[in-house]
Amino acid sequence: MNIEPATDLLSLAHEAAARAYSPYSSFRVGCALRTMAGGVFTGCNVENASYGLTICAERNAVFHAVAQEGAAMKIATLTVVCIGHEFPPCGACRQVIAEFATPETAVWFLQNGELVAMTVADLLPAVFK
Ligand code: THU
Repeated sequence: MNIEPATDLLSLAHEAAARAYSPYSSFRVGCALRTMAGGVFTGCNVENASYGLTICAERNAVFHAVAQEGAAMKIATLTVVCIGHEFPPCGACRQVIAEFATPETAVWFLQNGELVAMTVADLLPAVFK
């Protein structure tokens, strides 16, 4: 597992969270990732009056990275934060992260105010491939 603490990604994820569009849940979520090519991309959650159209911060960041680097984009490490809450990526985002990562890729999130990492394999042991 890449155990880089990713403090730069943490501050970028916080900045992205501040840009969330979340009038329905008030959850402001931000994600920042570094690609294997060295690119850094961010995303925030963007909600919609038709609730199911909402996109999470993590998928927004991953899709942003693919749009910029193309189909070969691979995630080196990813950090997600939510202002006032703490959680790892939701199930849908785990599946999308797994598509562009290895089982060993580190995913960072806050737990009791500290950044902790889990591998993609630990987050989604029964991944659909
Ligand atoms: N959300 C994320 O952005 N990422 C997650 O991993 C979980 C949930 C967002 C979606 C929605 O805008 C709000 O948080 C509440 O579910």
